[in-house]
Amino acid sequence: MSINLLDSLTETLLMGPGPACVPPAVYQAIAKPTIGHLDPRFIAIMDEIKARLQQVMQTRNRLTLPISGTGSAGMETAFVNLVEHGDRVLILKNGVFGMRMVDVAQRLGAEVDVIEFEWGTPVDVEKVKVQLASRSYKIVAVVHAETSTGAMNPVAEIGAAVKPTGALYLVDAVTSLGGIPVETDAWGIDVIYSGTQKCLSCPPGLAPVSFSDRAVETLRARRTKVPNWYLDLTMIVDYWQGAKRAYHHTAPINMLYAIDAALEAILEEGLEAVFARHAETHRRLVAGLEAMGLSMPVAPASRLPMLNAVRVPEGVDEAAVRSRLLKEFDIEIGAGLGPLAGKIWRIGLMGHTARAQNVDRLLDALKKILF
Ligand SMILES: Cc1ncc(COP(=O)(O)O)c(C=O)c1O
Repeated sequence: MSINLLDSLTETLLMGPGPACVPPAVYQAIAKPTIGHLDPRFIAIMDEIKARLQQVMQTRNRLTLPISGTGSAGMETAFVNLVEHGDRVLILKNGVFGMRMVDVAQRLGAEVDVIEFEWGTPVDVEKVKVQLASRSYKIVAVVHAETSTGAMNPVAEIGAAVKPTGALYLVDAVTSLGGIPVETDAWGIDVIYSGTQKCLSCPPGLAPVSFSDRAVETLRARRTKVPNWYLDLTMIVDYWQGAKRAYHHTAPINMLYAIDAALEAILEEGLEAVFARHAETHRRLVAGLEAMGLSMPVAPASRLPMLNAVRVPEGVDEAAVRSRLLKEFDIEIGAGLGPLAGKIWRIGLMGHTARAQNVDRLLDALKKILF
């Protein structure tokens, strides 16, 4: 479809695994005039973004900035800056994005150990402790909110187990940030990354990252150069920090306006209020689905409010339901990934999407299609 045809469309209600709905203030920010990436006015906006990211990520880490690229660029940044050939990395895997971490770390020549947990169940911290007692690691990595399954991992408890070992603790907060508490410093996280298109309610295109002082020291002490030029934080920081503000790559100016506006909206609403809104809309959705006789594979204690996995009822063509939702009701929901393909739908309640009226609109449409 040509971009001009999009003008005639109404706004699709994005209730999939991301992107999520974007609020008007963020669209308005993107539409503002592009200025130079070294313009002092733009540098002031960058400083504001860093400060706002620190608040949303609950960290005092100086190295906190958005990487140009989607969530996967955040994942690559986290690993490529810290892993050197032969480094031992432990990855706690229970879904597609843990699997992607393994691939990324292995491509960098890491010696990767994996503890696998059943998809849809959380990481079992006791098993992690046993593994940590048997071997030392440079990095232990986990996905906070496994978007592929809807399960939440116990990031704080894993952090407490990793801390005494001296390993760096790396957390994927692509789906969790802005939807549930992410307490980077309090949970002992050394490296964290996210993406804009989920609970931050921006279009896709930026990946906030934050490195603790310990992670920065590890980066500075590398024996070898960071093997990826574009994501090398030793160079990127000279654009984002300090007096130099040297050109590295041309910043995606208007996307940075967008994240600034999105972070402002979250902080104005207040983190606690934002988390409560996600939890409330999740409860409303679950109650509505259960009233229709639908069920959810993830146990209540580990359910993510912003990503709801729902079992496809026996005999229902799951793709046909999604297609009708989109064509007849202008609502997008997601399919299952990997081993869960065809078995679940993934209903997102992320950021600006997480509102009671959106839940009701979806439940109403689902009822009309299924019954
Ligand atoms: C948990 C998680 N990590 C990483 C990614 C990758 O992000 P992106 O698709 O923006 O590159 C996603 C995307 O859905 C995700 O859900």
